[in-house]
Amino acid sequence: MIVHWSTSSPALQADLAPERSTRQRIRSLRGRPGQPLLRHPIPCRAYDRTRNNTAVQIAPDSLKLAVVMVGLPARGKSYTARRIERYLSWLGYRTGVFNVGEYRRARVGARLPHSFFDPDNPRGEEARRSVAMAALEDMVAWLTDHGQVAIYDATNSTRARRVMVCARCERAGFQVLFIEIRCDDPTLIEANIRSTKLSSPDYEDTDPDEAVTDFRARIAHYQRVYQPLEDDEGAYLRVTGAGRGVTVSNVDGYLAARLVFFLMNLHLTARPIWLTRHGESVYNAAGLLGGDPDLTPDGHRYAQSLAEFLDRCDPDRKDIVIWTSSLRRAVQTAAPLGRTSWPWRALDEINAGICDSMSYAQIQEHLPEEYEARTRDKFTYRYPRGESYQDIILRLDPVIIELERTRKPVLVIAHNAVLRALYAYFQGVSRERCPHLAIPLHTVIELTPHAYGCHETRMPLEPRLDSREAL
Ligand code: F6P
Repeated sequence: MIVHWSTSSPALQADLAPERSTRQRIRSLRGRPGQPLLRHPIPCRAYDRTRNNTAVQIAPDSLKLAVVMVGLPARGKSYTARRIERYLSWLGYRTGVFNVGEYRRARVGARLPHSFFDPDNPRGEEARRSVAMAALEDMVAWLTDHGQVAIYDATNSTRARRVMVCARCERAGFQVLFIEIRCDDPTLIEANIRSTKLSSPDYEDTDPDEAVTDFRARIAHYQRVYQPLEDDEGAYLRVTGAGRGVTVSNVDGYLAARLVFFLMNLHLTARPIWLTRHGESVYNAAGLLGGDPDLTPDGHRYAQSLAEFLDRCDPDRKDIVIWTSSLRRAVQTAAPLGRTSWPWRALDEINAGICDSMSYAQIQEHLPEEYEARTRDKFTYRYPRGESYQDIILRLDPVIIELERTRKPVLVIAHNAVLRALYAYFQGVSRERCPHLAIPLHTVIELTPHAYGCHETRMPLEPRLDSREAL
């Protein structure tokens, strides 16, 4: 597996692509009258289709990873588990969360009083042990079968429980990584209870204050028996102070190290992320793919609208981070914003290889096999000498890490395919659906991450291109 891995900042990544003349490209594509469209037609059959078959493989069983969450209730374990799941699934690892609370609700019931969780309640103890075992066995079976990373989401609050879970996973041949979330800040805990627990089926139709009181009593039961994770228990990552402190011990292996890096960059500060394509380009207007064209007059007008939009959001012009691709149409869109912007090559549009500067109709006519292959499986299809959506996701990994790390509002000015991939990460859209998402021109997509996803608003700006068939 080839994975793009970088810890460098956008500033270090800024690297403008060599300039190419749009007119030259169109001229060479169109040829002289009477000449074939492509000057060097490529025999499509020569391309090895298996090269497109690059689904992420970590294959060897020894690399399968069991992530075991540890921590008192309302510390953000499920939030962290879902973030890991979303990130790794987006990267292409088959990742699953096994949430013991959901097993308990399905098998024993929701709306149980706090006394059910009292360690001195033998019936409650036995029921909880039994659902924890059921979830664990399902996880082991799933990981053994075809899963690659499983997250065991439970409090795992005693050493004895952790020893048992770890032994079971190791017996099955999995690598184990504990992730302990510690938090003693009463304000954060209260906020967590109110933002996540009150909407849980456990408290459906319950008065909010009553629910909070009951949940606090539930936490107290766990607190009585909680044994913090110790150094001799195995590989772990401990998060304290809502992500401000991270301790890592014994972590070994590529995937585990990657997770550590991801989690070190997560934060809970709410801020918008704006995604927008560049203004309309000469190629958009001509129905051609790729290239490095300039903006059309309408494209320049969109750049002005975007500047006005940003001024409304950030009148003091100091609080927004702006990233563009290195391509001319994105850089030109950022030009009137009156703010510093950082060009990233990682944000460049999908490389259409031998199909660059062609229209879809031309590809269908001159490279029918390529056209059909892409129609069959748009996600894994890689343009000859170009890229697939899968490739784009790998090169966007450092962008995601930077987006997670940055606490300021960020504006990303990029392209259709690249924004589909970024959007899919934030909205948890499957990789297969990602190439089919609608990311219209002249529209700002505002995503505001919150505990379990992103709030989304789409804002079309002038000039509208609705009446035109915009690419
Ligand atoms: O048409 C605009 C564009 O950004 C092209 O440059 C690019 O090849 C295309 O969109 C990507 O969209 P799709 O994957 O649907 O072809």
